Amino acid sequence: MDKFVVEGGVRLEGRVTAAGAKNAVLPMMAAALLADGPLRLERAPNLSDVRTMLAVLEGLGCEGRREEPSLDGGGGADGGPGALVLETKGEPGVVAPWEQVRKMRASVCVLGPLTARAHRAEVSLPGGCVFGVRPIDVHLRGLEALGAKVTIEGGYVKTEAPGGLVGAEVFLGTAFGPSVTGTMNVAMAATLAKGRTVIHGAACEPEVSDLCECLVAMGANIEGIGSPRLEIHGVERLHGATHRVLADRIEAGTYLVAGAITGGRVRVDDCRPGHLAALTERLREAGFGVERGEDWMEVFGEGFAQRARPTDVTTQPFPGFPTDLQAQWMALMCRADGVSLVTERIYPDRYMHLPELVRMGARIRRQEATAVVEGRERLSGAQVMASDLRASAALVLAGLVADGTTEIHRVYHIDRGYERIDERLRGLGAKVRREAGGE
Ligand code: EPZ
Repeated sequence: MDKFVVEGGVRLEGRVTAAGAKNAVLPMMAAALLADGPLRLERAPNLSDVRTMLAVLEGLGCEGRREEPSLDGGGGADGGPGALVLETKGEPGVVAPWEQVRKMRASVCVLGPLTARAHRAEVSLPGGCVFGVRPIDVHLRGLEALGAKVTIEGGYVKTEAPGGLVGAEVFLGTAFGPSVTGTMNVAMAATLAKGRTVIHGAACEPEVSDLCECLVAMGANIEGIGSPRLEIHGVERLHGATHRVLADRIEAGTYLVAGAITGGRVRVDDCRPGHLAALTERLREAGFGVERGEDWMEVFGEGFAQRARPTDVTTQPFPGFPTDLQAQWMALMCRADGVSLVTERIYPDRYMHLPELVRMGARIRRQEATAVVEGRERLSGAQVMASDLRASAALVLAGLVADGTTEIHRVYHIDRGYERIDERLRGLGAKVRREAGGE
């Protein structure tokens, strides 16, 4: 397995272009099952999760191919891959097997489209992940409200709606707030249900809105996009379309934190500053400059020796501070000149990065869902283990400022959600290289 070898001590400077959002493109790929024509996704990032979803779709009769990279905006970050074209020929298959779904929880997003289009589905339960149980009760509650019969058998969710789905009103909130993919699954199913569906407590993450815009381009009738109340009027069929995938705000935020943690100056192009308002405010509070334009953001620090002001964060649903940037923020606070609190309200156990940061000399104590981070002037390079996608990114950030060399093992976790992150960090001056032969 590959590892990253990072030499700390370099102040990052330069520009990167944001790639398409992983958490928007994955549900959009599932939406291709709804269409009876090709769905063309521009700026679909070249990630292992996208390849995993392609394998799931191919097992369902939906073929995917990449166009050649083009200069007209079909490409991804920094001349990334060409547009992704998906087409379901004939009726889709209905079984998404455990072997594939277990690799990536987002595969569960095929459940709504299959139930709506083929009137039945058999999708493996996604199982948990390293930061906790990942239930899908909201997904199932929504499909039942639309008239599907839902059973769980042998680790699979089976849905049946022989006469097709029927619109309904449903509340999709959970104990932790809205469900992003729960909202997506039910919204996709509702596009082909008979009559009107109202989703109360819908997630308002930008990726949900981007999926809805894509569905509208495919002929869906959706009102209230971006609000906690989505009203969807079912239509007979959805057709193919072309949609440019939204910029990945979490990837963009990760590069901005990389600039801040090294006291450097990093600009992210082709992103949506309005989607990172919470991070912007926290970075300024922590003593960093943040400039923003129509489609770019720039963070700047005062030099490598700069230590952030201790700044607390609590993760919340959008537009609050994103849980997917919590680990990265914790890495930044490890060198702050004081004590800060990092509280995780979406996934209270999302602290796999904590023991690894401690191995690099960080001083962090966990109290339930809160981590108390006592900033230190120096971290020390070490061999550390990546675990989940964002925890792994946090270890790279810490390695950028640690004394000496940090080896991050099992970087396949990072490749799931960051396109060529080693290459792009090198473009900012970082000393990071990918090597085979990790643990
Ligand atoms: C999406 O996961 C993202 N993944 C996650 O990003 C992100 O962390 C999460 O939303 C929160 O923003 C994708 O979009 C593919 P949820 P999702 O359903 O939809 C509980 C990354 O790093 N819940 O919004 O699975 C759940 O346990 C990934 O890119 C229920 O209780 O998250 C959690 O506490 C990690 N019942 C909270 O709600 C349900 O049926 C939010 O979960 C569903 C969720």
